[in-house]
Amino acid sequence: MDEILVRGGKKLSGTVVANGSKNAGLPVLAATLLADGDYLIKNIPNLSDIRTMIKLLKQIGSEVEFTDHELRITTKGIKNFEASYDLVKTMRASIYVLGPLLARQGKARVSFPGGCALGARPIDYHLEALHKLGVTIQIKHGYINAEVNRLKGCEIYFENKTVGATANALMAAVLAEGKTVIENAACEPEITCLADFLNSMGAHIEGHGTEIIIIEGVKELHPADFSLIPDRIEVGTLLVAGAMTRGKVIVKNCIPEHSGIVLNKLRDIGFEVDNAENSITISPGGKKKAIEISTNPHPGFPTDLQPLFAALLSTIEGKSIINENIFSDRFMYISELQRLGADIKLSGNRISINGVSKLSGAPVMAPDIRAAAALVVAALAANGQTKISRVYHLDRGYEYLEQKLASLGADIERIETDALY
Ligand code: EPU
Repeated sequence: MDEILVRGGKKLSGTVVANGSKNAGLPVLAATLLADGDYLIKNIPNLSDIRTMIKLLKQIGSEVEFTDHELRITTKGIKNFEASYDLVKTMRASIYVLGPLLARQGKARVSFPGGCALGARPIDYHLEALHKLGVTIQIKHGYINAEVNRLKGCEIYFENKTVGATANALMAAVLAEGKTVIENAACEPEITCLADFLNSMGAHIEGHGTEIIIIEGVKELHPADFSLIPDRIEVGTLLVAGAMTRGKVIVKNCIPEHSGIVLNKLRDIGFEVDNAENSITISPGGKKKAIEISTNPHPGFPTDLQPLFAALLSTIEGKSIINENIFSDRFMYISELQRLGADIKLSGNRISINGVSKLSGAPVMAPDIRAAAALVVAALAANGQTKISRVYHLDRGYEYLEQKLASLGADIERIETDALY
């Protein structure tokens, strides 16, 4: 239960390197269950959701060695097909093993994910897609018990765009008999990354990155070496941190096209943003103005950066609006930002933010991963000292964010809570 202590007011400046993508890494690691053998996966961020997925793979029977952002995974002779409550309750993305286990072993027993800090997060689209592929599903004693003889190619139409169910359907369909067409598929770069990995394992997937993905099932796949894409959400977080302190920050190891709308919103506010091939620079720019943002599936504005922009817009004069269109309740952090002096009003799935001239430090509590990051960046621009507790949320999605910010000049430190008592 570590805490983070920030003494605000330092202007960030310098260069920082983004890690590989958490949300690409989680399905890619689950997909290693699809073939027997040895894998080398590179550019893996060392954060706690990835470590939870590693525990899950080990529980299922994989051997995993994690050194210096590289994972060596051996999946020979895996017989277990269960994801236990203990792990799934700490990370919903554990559901990603469902598709691969069914494709590989015809059987899976995965704990049903419970509630979540972002509102109701059902898994009906995952289960409906697998059912269409021929899977029999029973929910009993808090577990999804799923079985299939051989998956059969089919047409899947998602009523709403869904990253997780698109990934699960994809990981099952690659070993199904015949052709599967996924319509209204998620177009996120993390889905494209997963499809590229599966193709490098011998799958036949086309159309990834668009709304229609076509998969010709193959009889078997083989292991492959792979490198993850950079984490566009970490990139956005670091840029907002720079913006928040009106500093000049260069973020390296990124793919600027993955962040298109985010960079444009920063420019709309009045920051100067320059892209190079694999780096982005943010500078203070000129006069600032309030803006409106609506979160949407890719290439729309990512919901994961919504709390970060709420923090930033709290310091921009005028009235900004944010509409949250992906999750039913992703505003739990507002009362914490209000503790820092932000002027935010919530109405349904929309917030209006009246920019204040200065935030002021206070003790706050992080309710989820991105909200934790939003509180950290808000604290960078607040007068005085902010202590952020429940930092384990931050650690789920960021590899030592405080060290990266400190390297840019932030006055920030982690306090191991044991040391406090
Ligand atoms: N939905 C359903 N039924 C389903 C699945 C989704 O109704 O079976 C709804 C969700 O409740 C939500 C919407 O569909 O309202 C979109 O959910 P999606 O399936 O796209 O989200 P996810 O796969 O659960 C991933 C990321 C999230 C990110 C969202 C949206 C991972 C591990 N998680 O979640 O990342 O916010 O896509 O882009 O990739 C984070 O990293 O902090 C995070 C929450």
